[in-house]
Amino acid sequence: MNYKETKTILAIESSCDDSGVAVLEFDKKNNFQMIANLAASQIEIHAPYGGVVPNLAARQHQKNIPLLTEQAFKKLEKVPDFFAVTHGPGLIPALLVGVSAAKALSFYFKKPIIPVNHLKGHLAAVLDQPGVNLKNFKEIFPALVLLVSGGHTELVIFRNWQEAKIIGTTQDDAAGEAFDKVAKLLNLSYPGGPIISKLAQHGNSQAFDLPRPMIGQPNLNFSFSGLKTAVFYLVKKINKGQKISLKQQKDIAASFQRAVVETLRAKTKKAILQTNPKSLVLGGGVAANQDLRHSLEFLAKKENIEFLAPDPKNCTDNAQMIAQAAFLDLAHGVKTKKWSEISANANLSL
Ligand code: KG4
Ligand code: ZN
Repeated sequence: MNYKETKTILAIESSCDDSGVAVLEFDKKNNFQMIANLAASQIEIHAPYGGVVPNLAARQHQKNIPLLTEQAFKKLEKVPDFFAVTHGPGLIPALLVGVSAAKALSFYFKKPIIPVNHLKGHLAAVLDQPGVNLKNFKEIFPALVLLVSGGHTELVIFRNWQEAKIIGTTQDDAAGEAFDKVAKLLNLSYPGGPIISKLAQHGNSQAFDLPRPMIGQPNLNFSFSGLKTAVFYLVKKINKGQKISLKQQKDIAASFQRAVVETLRAKTKKAILQTNPKSLVLGGGVAANQDLRHSLEFLAKKENIEFLAPDPKNCTDNAQMIAQAAFLDLAHGVKTKKWSEISANANLSL
């Protein structure tokens, strides 16, 4: 890329418990590259609570975002042409920190803002895949996106980058939340997903018969709180007041993971049959789960559609995906905003 002819976007993510600042550079032909992707994890802060505490997350973002922004500016060595920020959906105290930072930067440097919907960020995350560029990205539509994280379990049909509709959602806990709560029941640390999936590799997924919630219903909605309750009673039954053994932990982890994966797979298959997409895209923190990736890749192959998922390290919330979503917005002619025109919206819809 010719440095003089490129433009840059500095993006901020603070919708949940990951603080991120990233810089994307692009040229006139819409070739792009990441020149910074900075993150600060808050896992240690929230671990004692077994889940994200919104006000603690906001306080950490207030510490992290200015430091990460300073580092990004050092890498960039010039003022970015655009600022981008997640303006929703998410935890309002957390979102306010990133949005306020972006407004201040935009005001001070007199550069426009691209407000990004966090859910679209998870779709844009697949731009990290080798060979995916702006041209062939257009060819994935209509795309069915399964978004599974600590805060979301959604099936979304994207007719194109700008037209999307949620066709299925969870009625209670999100898939990642269920992993986190089951980890707590098994005396494991937070976040539960990575540790449960590791234990599950060495466990027997047939050991315990756990429910596949709402699997028989014709709609595309999910429910994971009943599954978590079933694990609660199972642990109560087998431990009889004692600590459960490592073998029992492994078998429960494997049986639980299998129940989640099979439920997600069954509803995704139903959604494919209903919407006839060209591709299936997996996103969100739970998309790092290898069993889920394999199961959905196999499903996509069977249904003769393309399967796309970001690299596991880019599945959890990050600012790179927000920068990529902002880049896609610019490439699709979406109008940028002035600092005074944007605000955080916890329940932002697609
Ligand atoms: O997208 P994300 O970083 O943030 C939220 O929106 O919450 O997702 C975090 C969630 C946590 O619930 C975590 O337990 C889950 O993703 N997770 C996983 C795995 N890695 C992270 N769940 C299952 N298997 C994994 N390998
Ligand atoms: Zn997310």
